[in-house]
Amino acid sequence: MTGADIADMELLAAARDAATRAYAPYSRFAVGAALRMTDGSIIAAANVENASYGLTLCAETVAIALAANRGALHQVVAVAVIGGARTEDGDIHGDALLTPCGRCRQMLHEAAALGGRDLPVTCASWDASKVEVVALSTLLPHAFGPDNLGVEG
Ligand code: THU
Repeated sequence: MTGADIADMELLAAARDAATRAYAPYSRFAVGAALRMTDGSIIAAANVENASYGLTLCAETVAIALAANRGALHQVVAVAVIGGARTEDGDIHGDALLTPCGRCRQMLHEAAALGGRDLPVTCASWDASKVEVVALSTLLPHAFGPDNLGVEG
């Protein structure tokens, strides 16, 4: 898997749509994440913040939780993420590539490990000037996972 992998633009569009529903009144930074499942369906989610800032849930983590609650954590085959700053008028802007935070890389690794596959992660800037496909194993090399605890997928 290399940067030459084809971006899943439908998945990215689902992530972008999800980001518009971000609950992010504190950072005003909206993020959307979408998971492509083995049956072709998509699970998408946005970040959820809290007045107790540290409790914030990232978009990727919410999406992974949704997949887990469907008993489908092992069925994730690809990921897309996008994000940008929300202005007073509710519009979202940004030209910086959004890549998953460290904690979310670990959350995504659980799905990858259970499924026994690496995951292509389509990362994008809100203005779409930057779109890159990066393997999760590149984002999180030498990951700790279920194998380390003797748990099989
Ligand atoms: N955020 C995500 O949802 N995913 C990431 O990978 C990076 C950060 C959210 C958390 C917080 O609500 C806002 O972006 C600013 O950090």
